[in-house]
Amino acid sequence: MATPAIEFRDVSLRYRLLAERGIVTLKEWVIRRLTTGMTYQELSALADVSFAVESGRTLGIIGHNGAGKSTLLRIAGGILAPTAGEAIIRGRIAPIIELGLGFEGELSGRENIFFNGALLGRSRNEMQERFDEIVDFSELGEFIEQPIRTYSTGMVARLAFAIATTVDAHILLLDEVLSVGDEQFRRKSKERIDSFRRAGVTILVVSHDLDAVEKMCDDAMWLEHGVIRRSGLAKEVVKAYRTSMDPGQAEPGVGGTVRLAGP
Ligand SMILES: Nc1ncnc2c1ncn2[C@@H]1O[C@H](COP(=O)(O)OP(=O)(O)O)[C@@H](O)[C@H]1O
Ligand SMILES: [Mg+2]
Repeated sequence: MATPAIEFRDVSLRYRLLAERGIVTLKEWVIRRLTTGMTYQELSALADVSFAVESGRTLGIIGHNGAGKSTLLRIAGGILAPTAGEAIIRGRIAPIIELGLGFEGELSGRENIFFNGALLGRSRNEMQERFDEIVDFSELGEFIEQPIRTYSTGMVARLAFAIATTVDAHILLLDEVLSVGDEQFRRKSKERIDSFRRAGVTILVVSHDLDAVEKMCDDAMWLEHGVIRRSGLAKEVVKAYRTSMDPGQAEPGVGGTVRLAGP
């Protein structure tokens, strides 16, 4: 196998949650921290996850809500550092497309294009050069001058997708972008993702749209409670996942019984 573009070696991520309730101000937080000592609860979002994505391949990540999919993508995008293990990313990453990430509500769409670019170390010049193309693809028109807080979720998603897919990148990270916006924009987005695949861009795509994962991805990974339940060719993993969700396919006689007690 060639050098992988993305490599996770026993990556774990634990979120720290404040166990105490009722803390509202920073001042109070500081006082409690100094006096009583704060207790934290830890939530394990990923546990010893290892995989590699060869350059130019598209990996679909599927699994139920809370499985750790977005967390994995944020680590790949350099937004979160793992609690343990190592994540190696080789190549220029496009901004992760995830609703509400990397945008400032009070700034206009125009300002956010530059803000978003700056977060990823793209120069103002580079963003300026791509500006018209981004606005054009996003179909926002004059709304580009309005604050983002006035946008619908579909509009935000369109802008996020347009920015991420217009800057030059070797690696594209997509979190649930196929399920927002209207049908026409989804089709346009899928076509653009296809053109990236043909150009050899490495893509990680999180989606609930199993048909799209089967069609768009070479490989798939099924996450469950922060661990890899199954990985392999997209078709096979999606099939196994579908089977697990279809009660008619479940193994009989496992667990309890169902009693139809009537009205
Ligand atoms: N910022 C956070 N702080 C604390 N817990 C979080 C945070 N983000 C996600 N979690 C928790 O981590 C787990 C994995 O979440 P996530 O990666 O968003 O899953 P998915 O994208 O598969 O729905 C969930 O239990 C979720 O509640
Ligand atoms: Mg998610």
